[in-house]
Amino acid sequence: MVPIPTQGASRAVVNAVCHSSVVRCAAPCLPVRLQSDLSSIFDLQRTHLHRNICNLPRSRRGFVTKAAEGNGASPASTGLSIDLRGKKAFIAGIADDQGFGWAIAKALAEAGAEISLGVWVPALNIFESSYRRGKFDASRKLSNGSLMEFAKVYPMDAVYDTPEEVPEDVSSNKRYAAAGDLGFTVSDVARNVEKDFGKIDVLVHSLANGPEVTKPLLETSRKGYLMAVSASAYSYVSMLQRFGPIMNPGGAAVSLTYLASEKIIPGYGGGMSSAKAALESDTRVLAYEAGRKYQLRVNTISAGPLGSRAAKAIGFIDDMIKYSYANAPIQKELEAREVGNAAAFLLSPMASAVTGATIYVDNGLNAMGLAPDSQTLARAEQPVGAA
Ligand SMILES: NC(=O)c1ccc[n+]([C@@H]2O[C@H](COP(=O)([O-])OP(=O)(O)OC[C@H]3O[C@@H](n4cnc5c(N)ncnc54)[C@H](O)[C@@H]3O)[C@@H](O)[C@H]2O)c1
Repeated sequence: MVPIPTQGASRAVVNAVCHSSVVRCAAPCLPVRLQSDLSSIFDLQRTHLHRNICNLPRSRRGFVTKAAEGNGASPASTGLSIDLRGKKAFIAGIADDQGFGWAIAKALAEAGAEISLGVWVPALNIFESSYRRGKFDASRKLSNGSLMEFAKVYPMDAVYDTPEEVPEDVSSNKRYAAAGDLGFTVSDVARNVEKDFGKIDVLVHSLANGPEVTKPLLETSRKGYLMAVSASAYSYVSMLQRFGPIMNPGGAAVSLTYLASEKIIPGYGGGMSSAKAALESDTRVLAYEAGRKYQLRVNTISAGPLGSRAAKAIGFIDDMIKYSYANAPIQKELEAREVGNAAAFLLSPMASAVTGATIYVDNGLNAMGLAPDSQTLARAEQPVGAA
């Protein structure tokens, strides 16, 4: 484990419109002859209030309730917010401040959760040194002015489940060896998290890796394909296997998927489209199994294109962002923050009935059946007879 320093109501105007000055009000006023039948105190009070209103001269019937005066909210409202104070979250797949994992961390921090990270071993040194040098300080800033803190950062490699299966050339690599007895496999990390924090409430899988992602499927090797599925899909299964037992009932997990799982996206190769299809299918099965076994919810977010480090490695992310801008129902660039907010919702008790779902956060691009910027359509739109 690598220590990183922690640090009204509108004027609820009861405009009871009386049909006659004393006898009857429009809803919710009740006919006076029925008022004596009311037995509950609430109803008696309400009736009394409305009778008083109805007895006022018409000019004074605008009525501001005392409790409702002030801030534009209804009297009982404290606002609908995502509150994760007291909840513990573990996020796998952050190595800088550019990706979805970071944005999810930020949204969870805004909601008050305590956050620990699993950082891919080869990326750990650079992440730590950038963090210490203050490179992320601007993006660590929360809305209350404080900086987002991480309770702990663990070295992790999600393609290994247990120490026994780590190949010799990996365990002897100096970066991996630096993890020492704590280890870096999924089971090591789950054990360390439990030792440090006890039970957790929130699990985030924001990682993917496909060494042959730039190759078309027709040219992808078996090894490359299986590595893509191992790193990008099975890793979620492995995390739920090992973190499920250390999660509080009512907790939730979320991962990130991509439209290429269900629609052809030329260029997203190397078995990555297959890995995302597996991830979405696994989300449904895991929702059932982890729901029954641990009372957890399991969802995945299908995100639109973002210029993260991983996406830039694929090579065509700028084109995908432009394509989405030109063709999605909502014409704007997707912000990582929007995915972070959706994740915070899914990971909070506000989404207590949402599980097994693939939730699109992509400006609606997934819903399109054709591309409005297609040249074919431009020709078709020309008036009949035009040259
Ligand atoms: N960027 C996009 O356009 C886009 C769109 C839809 C979905 N997604 C998904 O979002 C998720 C996050 O990716 P991102 O685009 O934010 O990029 P990112 O580079 O911020 O995140 C990917 C992370 O995966 C980590 N990682 C890779 N292999 C690992 C391993 N074996 N063990 C542990 N960590 C490992 C990397 O260190 C990195 O931090 C991925 O699942 C990705 O497929 C991205």
